[in-house]
Amino acid sequence: MKIPILRIPYDQEDISFIKNEVEKVLRSGYLTMADNVAKFETEFAAFCGVKHALGTNSGTSSLEIVLRAIDVVGATVVVPSNTFMATPISVVHAGGKVVFTDCERDNLQMDPDDLKRKIRKDTKAVIIVHIGGIISPRFEEIKRICKENGLFLLEDAAHAHGAAFKGTKAGNLGDAGSFSFYPTKVMTTAEGGMITTSDNFVYEQAIILREHGKKDHSFNVHTEFGYNWRFSEIHAVLGLQQMRKIGWILAERKKIASFYDQNIKRIKKLLPLRIASYVEPAYYKYVCFLADGVDRATFKNKLKEKYEIILPGEVYSDPCHSQPVFEKYPQYVANDIKESFPNTDYVCRQQVCLPLYPGLRTDELEYIMGALEDCLK
Ligand SMILES: Cc1ncc(COP(=O)(O)O)c(C=O)c1O
Repeated sequence: MKIPILRIPYDQEDISFIKNEVEKVLRSGYLTMADNVAKFETEFAAFCGVKHALGTNSGTSSLEIVLRAIDVVGATVVVPSNTFMATPISVVHAGGKVVFTDCERDNLQMDPDDLKRKIRKDTKAVIIVHIGGIISPRFEEIKRICKENGLFLLEDAAHAHGAAFKGTKAGNLGDAGSFSFYPTKVMTTAEGGMITTSDNFVYEQAIILREHGKKDHSFNVHTEFGYNWRFSEIHAVLGLQQMRKIGWILAERKKIASFYDQNIKRIKKLLPLRIASYVEPAYYKYVCFLADGVDRATFKNKLKEKYEIILPGEVYSDPCHSQPVFEKYPQYVANDIKESFPNTDYVCRQQVCLPLYPGLRTDELEYIMGALEDCLK
């Protein structure tokens, strides 16, 4: 049996829907920023429970647009070190400086105690990242810290389509949210992103920035230095197809995660995360830790060679604070160079992510468990 790194399940009905809708787009003459984009934005806003959603060409663009909308030029933005580099990179491109925080070991999310320590006079915003599709069990504390310090709270929800905290969806927890639709994500449009917010000012600024800083699409009058961050009609069709299936996608992910939750106990050298009962993850990843002394590369290699199981990438294996680009350009990081991030270093070093995608069958999951047991004897 082969377990590939990823499958994206498009059934015949999905393909027919996409073909029909793309054909209509091609015949219409409107290939970008027209009815399908507007429809996808409306549906996604309703899905998250926010007033506004704005499609963009990537999750990175969405982050940068929001940071530009609130103007972080010359300010610091607090970001967890355990995230994809797009998060801190968006701060740098928006003209700000990054302050990294450590995470909590049990759940991978930003450590609110470290957040408190990292806030400076020039801090304007905090980006929390719902790593692995999980939401911090201490989210309310993070929100309160932001409120008390007058900081804008941006959710990087690139992993968290449909995740919820006490019933409120990701994208509707902070002042604004940012999603990615990259192929590995919970929902995909091949490439693409989405901003969610109920803040009218952020929304209006984001519309201007998304299209070269033009207040009105039909006139070449530029009031800001925007960019081409537009979203195409064809990508929006892919998004509308995903909206039709998101209930099934999330249920499949949850079912597979429950299987692992129940069976992981069989393996002493795999330690699960702790997820609070009031957090509903999107299960972008099923993260667990290898016991001390197990070498990740050797273990992954054995699974691949002996069982043809390819584990998906970690979230993440290389912390942002130690990326060479920040050594090259230290002026973009406000942390003390002597600072350490012990939990981040631990979770980056010790985690593995088990295969998890809609359509993974029970016999495949049993096969994976057997292989894990053997490779971690
Ligand atoms: C946490 C996080 N933030 C931002 C992004 C950027 O999204 P995109 O690749 O769509 O630009 C990603 C994508 O992998 C991500 O994982």
